[in-house]
Formats: sequence, structure tokens, C-alpha cells
Amino acid sequence: MKTTSQAPTSGAGSRASGPPSSRARRQFLRTGAGVAAGAAATVAGGAVLGHAGGAAAAGSAPAADPAHMPPNVPWWTQYLGDGVAAAPYGSPSPYEAHVVRRHVSWLTATTESSVNFTPIQDLHGFVTPNGLCFERHHGGVTEVNPADYRLMINGLVDTPMIFTLEDILRFPNESRFYFLECAANSGMEWRGAQLNGVQYTHGMIHCVQYTGVPLRVILDQVGVKPNGKWLMAEGADSAGMHRTIPLEKALDDAMLAFAMNGEMLRPANGYPLRLVLPGWEGNMWVKWIRRIEVGDQPWFTREETSKYTDLLADGKARYFTWEMDAKSVITGPCPEKPVLHKGVNQIKGLAWSGRGKVKEVHVSLDGGRNWMQARLPDPVLPKCLTCFNAEFEWNGEEVLLQSRVVDDTGYVQPTMRALQTVRGVNSIYHNNAIQTWLVNKSGEVENVRLG
Ligand code: CO
Repeated sequence: MKTTSQAPTSGAGSRASGPPSSRARRQFLRTGAGVAAGAAATVAGGAVLGHAGGAAAAGSAPAADPAHMPPNVPWWTQYLGDGVAAAPYGSPSPYEAHVVRRHVSWLTATTESSVNFTPIQDLHGFVTPNGLCFERHHGGVTEVNPADYRLMINGLVDTPMIFTLEDILRFPNESRFYFLECAANSGMEWRGAQLNGVQYTHGMIHCVQYTGVPLRVILDQVGVKPNGKWLMAEGADSAGMHRTIPLEKALDDAMLAFAMNGEMLRPANGYPLRLVLPGWEGNMWVKWIRRIEVGDQPWFTREETSKYTDLLADGKARYFTWEMDAKSVITGPCPEKPVLHKGVNQIKGLAWSGRGKVKEVHVSLDGGRNWMQARLPDPVLPKCLTCFNAEFEWNGEEVLLQSRVVDDTGYVQPTMRALQTVRGVNSIYHNNAIQTWLVNKSGEVENVRLG
């Protein structure tokens, strides 16, 4: 087991127990009753990288202010709150300020070509809020003016065309929930347990409802020639991100999406138009898409040769490994969410498969010797995050928590040893191995590697 001593990038700060909104605060202070306003309580759930202090801080429950306890009437019941004009676009509660994307500064040379991580340990259900979807950029966030946006389709087509955003919005659209996982998710963990937090080990994933036009509808407009078998999708970012896509995927479930979770895409997610390739590695979901060229053979771009290929033990590399294999992880307990109570505790987690639906999830308390069936609350959708949960009774002894997904193709999530037997340890990408969390006798949770 190896852990890092990277300092947490916690945005947590402290929780003031006084009124948070400016108007309420003004009224509160005018009354001269702001005695409790300076008292700060401990914040739970800060980032945990390395053991020192992290789990201990996360483990302490926020102290309650007796002035707010029954039968007292707390301040928030005594004053008018903000009106409807205070926040035309809403924000989370200030008490949830610790639920943020985080990045690891030593992982990449610059933040413009880098990644941050979704706080999956603090989320509920299978939908990721737009502002918390992890980002992976190669040339920073591209700011596209929709009035000047154009999508060009050329190459082996009957009629090369240029579409405006208005043009795209006039086609029939559909809305579907899909997960998006970076091929490098869990990529630091190939040689051993590295990052002590599920946000960092598994947070290069998000799941939203995309609204867009099926790519086949747009390809119908230009007419793909009979020898057109491959597509090259090119982004408008300064890195000129481009990837090769087989025509079969384009005609199957690929989408050109303009919205996520009901609103137009965020700039960080490809505004105003991005490619959606359900179940396939996130690198191919070209953001700010500006051109699709149809050809008769693959392009072998930078991002599918020197990157996003899977180096094997013998020095050869697999390429065009597009599908994301079935994977699951327990998001509580986890290093950020220690076990606080003896007795019955809830296990919760996420499972997914790039090939279809989650069929079963099993949970182990003894490092994979015995397994129990987890519950899969509705809905279970194809190529979408699926929630699972189960109970376990904790008596203060060490527990080795694992989860294992089986998808509807019958594929079973492998152990790391099984994965390494086939793939070696040279890879970065496509690590879908079973994750182990050690719950120690104090209830803290650590990322560990078995065997
Ligand atoms: Co791949």
C-alpha cells in the first residue's frame, strides 16, 4: 500500500452558525443577537489525500449550537429570507461548499491540459449536477459564441455542408442519460493503491441527461458515400482535439448534444455542441465539435496513438479500445466517508457498463472471499450510472470492503490481479479492477491493494 502526502485542496472553510444571507445577516446584527455568529463548527467531508488528519477531520460530526435546539426558536425562523430576485441562477447551500471538483496539482504540468475530479462521495442518485461534472481539457475551456458557431461535414459525402447551431436545433432531438468516463479513470492505481480518496481514484466520471440530435440524422443530410467507413471528429479547442470514429457507432447511438440536465451545455462540457458516444471512452466525445470528415480508413491521430492506447507487458499496445468495461465502486464508506457508528451502516456505490445494463452488483466485507447481493434501485438504464446499496453491521473490527458488477453481457468485473495477468502494469487507461477499501478499527477508511 502506498499513499501520497499531497495536501488536500479542500474548499471547505468553516461553517458559521449565524445567518448566511446578507439581508438576513443585516437584520440579525441589528437585533444585537449575533452572539453565536462567530462560533464555527467542524466541516465534515473535506478532501482526504494521505492519512494525516484527513480521516479524523472527516470523522468528527459538526457540533450543534444549543441556541438552535428545541425548544429554542433558531434565528432562521425569526427573519424574512431572501426574495425571489436575490438569485436569478441558484447556487447550492453554503453549508455544502465542500462539495466541489478537485484536481491534483502534481498530476499534470498545467491546468489547461489537465483533469479534475467529480466528488462522487458527496452525490446522491445517478445524475451529476452540471457544475460538478469532472473536466478534462487539452487546451483549456473554449468559449464559443453560438452566433458564430459552425459545424462542417466534408470528405466522402454526397453534399458537404456547414450547419449553424440554429440548423442543428431544428432537427428532431432526444434526451438520454449516459455516463461519461475518462479512459484514464483509476489510471494511477495500476501498480498499487495510490490516491486515498474515491474522488481521485474514480472521479473521472459523470452522468447527465444529454439532449441532442442523433448523429445519423445529420449524416443523412450530407449522404455518406458507400466507401465512407470512418469519421474524424474535430474540436474547436486550441489543442485541435480529434479522434477517429467508426461509421457503425455514428449510425448506432451517437448524438450531437447541445444540452445537459435540461440546460445548454456548460462551456467546460463543449458548448454549444459536443459529440456523445454512449459507453465509449470520454476522450472521443469531442467537445466544441466543429468538423466531421468522412473517410475510408482511420486517421490514427495523436490522441489514438501516443495517447489513449493501452501498453501491454511485452511492449506492444492495444489501440482503438473504445468501450468502457463494466466497473463499480463503493462511494460510502470510502476514505472521505469513514464509518462513524457501530451497528448497522449503509454501503452505497455506483456501477456501470459501456456495453449495456448493470445486471447485478455484489458486495464483500472480507476482501472478496464472500459476496452478498446489493440492491439496485430503479432505474437501471443502459450505459448509465446505476446506484447500488446494502447494509453491513460494524462491530469495530477491520473490514475489507469491495464491490463487483456483472453486466447484462455476463461480464464480471475483474480483480486487479486478473487484470494485470492480461494487461501487465504499463497501462494508464481502462483500469476497471475491483477497488478495496480497508475500514480500520477506528472507522477510518484507506485505499489498499490486496495480494
Ligand atoms: Co481506450
